[in-house]
Amino acid sequence: MSDFRADGAAALEWAARYLEGVRELPVLSRVEPGAVRSALPAAPPDEPEPFAAVLQDLDDVLLPGITHWNHPRFFAYFAISGSEPGILAELLAATLNVNAMLWRTSPAATELEELVLDWVAQLMGLPDGLHGHIEDTASTSTLAALAAARELRPGGVVLCSDQAHSSVEKAARILGLEARKVAVDDEFRMRPDALAEALEDAEVGAVVATVGTTSTTSVDSVPEIADLAEKAGAWLHVDAAYAGSAMVCEELRWALEGCERADSLVVNPHKWLFTPVDCSCLFSRRPEVLRRAFSLVPEYLRSDEDATNLMDYGPALGRRFRALKLWAVIRCYGRSGLQQRIREHVRLARLFASWVEAEPGWEVVAPVPFSVVCFRREASDEENQAIVERANATGEVFLSPTVLRDRIVLRLAVGNLRTTAEDVERAWAMLREVAGDGSSE
Ligand SMILES: Cc1ncc(COP(=O)(O)O)c(C=O)c1O
Repeated sequence: MSDFRADGAAALEWAARYLEGVRELPVLSRVEPGAVRSALPAAPPDEPEPFAAVLQDLDDVLLPGITHWNHPRFFAYFAISGSEPGILAELLAATLNVNAMLWRTSPAATELEELVLDWVAQLMGLPDGLHGHIEDTASTSTLAALAAARELRPGGVVLCSDQAHSSVEKAARILGLEARKVAVDDEFRMRPDALAEALEDAEVGAVVATVGTTSTTSVDSVPEIADLAEKAGAWLHVDAAYAGSAMVCEELRWALEGCERADSLVVNPHKWLFTPVDCSCLFSRRPEVLRRAFSLVPEYLRSDEDATNLMDYGPALGRRFRALKLWAVIRCYGRSGLQQRIREHVRLARLFASWVEAEPGWEVVAPVPFSVVCFRREASDEENQAIVERANATGEVFLSPTVLRDRIVLRLAVGNLRTTAEDVERAWAMLREVAGDGSSE
């Protein structure tokens, strides 16, 4: 290997320059399918190459094929941030390269994971005493939660609202369970009366409530859902993958009401807690049921310490040291720093919504409880689709549309640490300009 220090310095310089200049790059990659692959050798090199050659290709070939999730005008899906402390901690985690499958395979990795999940629970205002561990994504966390539910009621149906994330249905499919959708009210929240009916119609193993749905960030009424799930003896899983991070701010904790009764709850620090992808926290009041679902210890993994082996709580054996980056992020921002940034994102989203509301010919189509605004031009679906495509083609912004009540809706998600009021203003000016109804000042 060539000089680790010199290569490391060059890589860090690359990262710093990237973050400083990312705002100038087109947000959505403009390459054609196959362009990146065809620009690279089809076969591996026979002889070693210098690391500098990797950096060169990163600039020349890969960068044009990157959609910049770390761009301040990335407003699609849920906007995210790989923050500096998280980036550096990823480097250190790769350096240590430990596997936190058993306590003994790296005691610090397991104990830090348990500690930092306690910290997240405290930051969110969750009850004491929850078991927490890290999975890669909310898809895996929800899969693990539903696998636990299946232990208690094998074959039980899974209920969620028709606004729940597709990962719920996918997890049910993987587990051989039937998923049924429950209707929502006019603010996209699961209707408790419809849930009550669905609970009567089937033997239900799990109810999944969402705190912060993917399209509109609506919040299901967890207290009412918890009553009904409890009466039916069903597992209650709360998907707070996006909005869970907002619970760091006391004024947003109304959304957490009833969640203390959940059997399990997922929140993704890689969505809105400034932690680089991937990092999903699964909390449970009933870790012994997770263990029942997942503990399978072959001879070679036997260990007799009185300690937690985190491989027993989820599908994967090998476990990355993800706690290190989450710990670094929480320490380097502190509660107040996290609150300040989340509050700013909520403020920017509300500001944007106020502009849309004030503009004739445009409408906000769902409440804005957090940092996502759903809106549309009062025009055909084709026109709304064309607006988002034209805006994205400029490279200035990236938004992803959604469908609500069978109509195409534009959606602006604020969540990047570098997003400013000017970025949001620019997005609004751009949208009006490509819609042909305003100047771009
Ligand atoms: C509410 C909600 N739950 C779960 C997921 C799935 O997240 P992941 O990509 O971590 O599996 C998403 C993704 O956006 C989501 O919005």
